[in-house]
Amino acid sequence: MAEQYQSFLNKKGASDSFEKLRKLGLPNLHGKSFLDVGCNEGFFCGVAYYASAKKIVGLDLNSEFIERAKSRFPSVDFRCSSWDADLSEFGSFDVILLASAIHYAADQPALIKKLLGLLAPRGILVLELGIAPGEGDAYVEVKRSAGDSRQYATMRALDKALDGFVFRVIGQSVPQSGDPVPRWVVHVTHRRPTIMFFDSPSFTGKSSTVRTLSKFCGVKPDGFRVAGIDRVLQDIEFSMSEKYPSHRKIIDKISTFKKEKSIFANVILEMIGHEDHIDDFVSFIIDYRIDGALMTLWDGYIPEKYRYQFRENFSRRGFIVWGADPFDNLGHQRLNPVELMVNLPIGAAFQSSQDLRVYLDSATIESGSLTLVGWAADAGTKTPLEQFLVFFGETLVEDAEIRRCSRPGANREIGCPPEVLLGFQILISADRLRSLLTTEILFLGLAGKNDLLKQLLGLRLFVQDRNGGVLEARYSSKLQIVTG
Ligand SMILES: C[S@@+](CC[C@H](N)C(=O)[O-])C[C@H]1O[C@@H](n2cnc3c(N)ncnc32)[C@H](O)[C@@H]1O
Repeated sequence: MAEQYQSFLNKKGASDSFEKLRKLGLPNLHGKSFLDVGCNEGFFCGVAYYASAKKIVGLDLNSEFIERAKSRFPSVDFRCSSWDADLSEFGSFDVILLASAIHYAADQPALIKKLLGLLAPRGILVLELGIAPGEGDAYVEVKRSAGDSRQYATMRALDKALDGFVFRVIGQSVPQSGDPVPRWVVHVTHRRPTIMFFDSPSFTGKSSTVRTLSKFCGVKPDGFRVAGIDRVLQDIEFSMSEKYPSHRKIIDKISTFKKEKSIFANVILEMIGHEDHIDDFVSFIIDYRIDGALMTLWDGYIPEKYRYQFRENFSRRGFIVWGADPFDNLGHQRLNPVELMVNLPIGAAFQSSQDLRVYLDSATIESGSLTLVGWAADAGTKTPLEQFLVFFGETLVEDAEIRRCSRPGANREIGCPPEVLLGFQILISADRLRSLLTTEILFLGLAGKNDLLKQLLGLRLFVQDRNGGVLEARYSSKLQIVTG
């Protein structure tokens, strides 16, 4: 009789399935399609059943487990089958789970690829697997307490197997006695197209930033596509050739605006918003200009009153939307995000009032850990700014290590006694960093793909003054830190 592996309320097995469920961080399964590969006795299919998933399939090679699963959850579609069989008959799935099983696969990357092929466009593959230590790209043979040996991927090998997708290491899974290597939970999704808006008024340096960025990552197919009203108007001229009949309405409308009112892009854009053609206009941009590119830089003013609508429209269509105006809410003194972008990380300065100064000298990544070095001071009281909040996207990095250090130049600059430590070093460990890399904040695949040094980090750093409470100064490079 096959040994009890999963745990149920009435039967305990070797694995603490309830705790594993917690660690897996499955998305809400209500109304979703769910596939569990190597489902054993059907614990997770049962979870999907109780969560009202709409289609549930459980696969396992072991007929005994499948029989037990069927008797536990009779309405679930359990199949006694190998993952090596043709799985296309099941269609695609919103959520696919492969837990504690990949080490049984003869060709692990091939299994991952196959499952990713079954993933719905907004779907998620949840992997729970042992990861071997080591920096290299290797499958390491590890002897197990069961007496056999199995191959476990290193993080780099896993990274390679997930090439072209976005993955996020959620954290360690529940340990089990006799585990030869620690288990991790990894969520994998399709890459979503990203658009970054440089839409502030003229002469704020949008175009030069866009040029810098596209030079930095201009290699197709991973490079940026540039869009903007001027370019789109050109597209419209060229598209007159009946090539895009479905966009006839917006093309005609814009041609009328051009003829009647103005040749100026800004005015035309005002009219598009005013006459509520934003939806048609965005469709046209996506089909004609973005044309399947994964990364787009919008280079062109958008009137403030329509900005939200534009962004929201892209977001509704599945785009990840970045705004390049992180200082919008800063109040009286507006900083120029463009300057910030171009200058980072070489001595960029941020100042939100006369007195408060924050400088970031460098942002470097070594062995996967990120270190930010700079100084922050209140030049009025000649005291250091003490409280740092580091954000990646919307996530506060709770365990960033902050060290004070000496920064004599800063002391001289604000006329502060040399013993006052104005400098800071903020360290974020490799593990922490990995768990923060979500689709929303990282353009994975940019330049060196897996090479953190070349990625753009969605990093925001806030500095509070010593009285706490009021956020007086903050440097918010939501945009990027380019290193390397
Ligand atoms: C350690 S158990 C994990 C069970 C379950 N995923 C969990 O985490 O609770 C591994 C499962 O993979 C199944 N398995 C092994 N090789 C398989 C294959 N080629 N196709 C489908 N299932 C397989 C085993 O029968 C076993 O039920």
